[in-house]
Amino acid sequence: MKKIVILFTTCIFAAACGKAVTVPFSVIPAPASVSLSDGSFTIKTADYYADPAIKDMEGVSAFMEKVAFVTGRQAKAIDAPAAGAFTFNLNPALADEEYTLDVTPQGITVSANSYNGFLYASVTLAQMLPAKVQVQGQSSGMKAVVPCASVKDKPRFAYRGFHLDCARHFFSIDEVKKFISQMANYKLNTFHWHLTDDQGWRFESKKYPRLNEISAYREGTMIAKDFSSNDGVRYGGYYTQEEMKDVVAYAGKLGITVIPEIDLPGHMVAVLAAYPELGCTGGPYEVWTRWGIAKDVLCPGKEVTFEFLEGILDELCEVFPSEYIHIGGDECPKDRWKECPDCLKRMKGLGLKDGNGHTKEQLLQNYVTKRIQDFLGTKGRKIIGWDEILEGELAPGATIMSWRGVNGGIEASKKGFDAIMTPGTYVYFDYFQSQERDKEPLAIGGNLPIDKTYNFEPFDGVPEEAQKHILGVQANLWTEYIATDEHLEYMAFPRMAALSEVQWCAPANKDYERFKAAADRHKEYYELSGITYHKGLWGEIGLPGSEQPARSSEELEKYLQENNFSW
Ligand code: ACM
Ligand code: ZN
Repeated sequence: MKKIVILFTTCIFAAACGKAVTVPFSVIPAPASVSLSDGSFTIKTADYYADPAIKDMEGVSAFMEKVAFVTGRQAKAIDAPAAGAFTFNLNPALADEEYTLDVTPQGITVSANSYNGFLYASVTLAQMLPAKVQVQGQSSGMKAVVPCASVKDKPRFAYRGFHLDCARHFFSIDEVKKFISQMANYKLNTFHWHLTDDQGWRFESKKYPRLNEISAYREGTMIAKDFSSNDGVRYGGYYTQEEMKDVVAYAGKLGITVIPEIDLPGHMVAVLAAYPELGCTGGPYEVWTRWGIAKDVLCPGKEVTFEFLEGILDELCEVFPSEYIHIGGDECPKDRWKECPDCLKRMKGLGLKDGNGHTKEQLLQNYVTKRIQDFLGTKGRKIIGWDEILEGELAPGATIMSWRGVNGGIEASKKGFDAIMTPGTYVYFDYFQSQERDKEPLAIGGNLPIDKTYNFEPFDGVPEEAQKHILGVQANLWTEYIATDEHLEYMAFPRMAALSEVQWCAPANKDYERFKAAADRHKEYYELSGITYHKGLWGEIGLPGSEQPARSSEELEKYLQENNFSW
């Protein structure tokens, strides 16, 4: 058989009907190596032989579920490899998440050494099928024809994340799951769930019911970018613990770990509204109705604050089994701490002093971080925090999420801390995606066209010996100005596809022209799957229906007219 090592150009193969068909190899993220050969294989049965050495058969089952969907047949184990069937081998020499996939006219053989390895082989195979077959399965009425190929693949980074802010706007469990399923389609493996902020608390608490009753709802939302406005429409909601456990299980089947975030000690106004005794001034406070950085934060001078945090984290750990818990740490103004008798007493008692480039208030935040880190450590968990937690004297063992550019990640890695790169300049998906702002829905600002995300190189500026500390890359999708599912998806796709190549592909395997050509198939997939996406790559800008500000409702429209607002 003639083998051609391709650089993801187009390949010609004979379809089952015998007619030559041109098919672009459009798997995203691009596999590490693909060798295409003449011919094709048509998937007709869901029979499979699995090497008995495979201990955890769940990866094979996950693979065969996809095949069952495509063929409309039940997966059936057979006793020996057979022509036309699937064969699964365990290869202990393969790394975690690594796999090989061989398609020949006789059948399909997969080797892996982990759940995610088998799963990712199935994701690659699904993308090698016509998009219609992938989405509609046998009801597409099309044959499941796959080009013959030998694929060898493994990720560049172990941490491949996506963050979703469900605090500023609340998204249904169905929408969260839809996002997670698309993450799996791009071989991302970590969902960072931003569950709490000044404008809303979304984690059901059984110990602190006022969080569900008060913190989860705000009495309105600011209108467009008018910070003095409030639409007066009550808004909010929370996820029950059962719902969140269901999301964890759903994501787990797709090879995705859910890391929850409780943002502390700043971004806590919603909590203070329910439990004012946790603030420095005692309130009164209201769940915030505008965006920005609040001066009211938790009071670390009071023991009751730590009792509360430990109680919540106890509950959080019951719901989320992830090794990492994200504890926020960003944007915590110290104004109140400077005046608060309890905070002053705490700083004095701890002997905290300004010096070495740090203020005593920054060191007080380190104290909070360390106490929470120690508490979570007793439960076998590790912390991730936004890069502000590096300010002062951070205890070993924390992982830094670098969002204010890459410098936090570089500094952390040089100091021996693990870091995840999420710089606003490259991977903040709440930024505008084109310069034609009048055609775009309202966004927070910035300018992040897809090629900028694609061209992000996470090791730039990181000394070689520190690169092992860069665990991976994550995009963050904050939702101040994003109120609808359509708008949320519009901001994420196809930038998530570009992100996936930053996370998965070795630099030498990245090629923006190849990526753009491959994206055509993904456009078809979005159309067929009912996913809203930005069409800039195809010469169109805009989200129909969003010419008005992102937050739109009948009451809002009425309010706008009555109050003569314009933007
Ligand atoms: C952040 O964007 N405030 C982490
Ligand atoms: Zn205080």
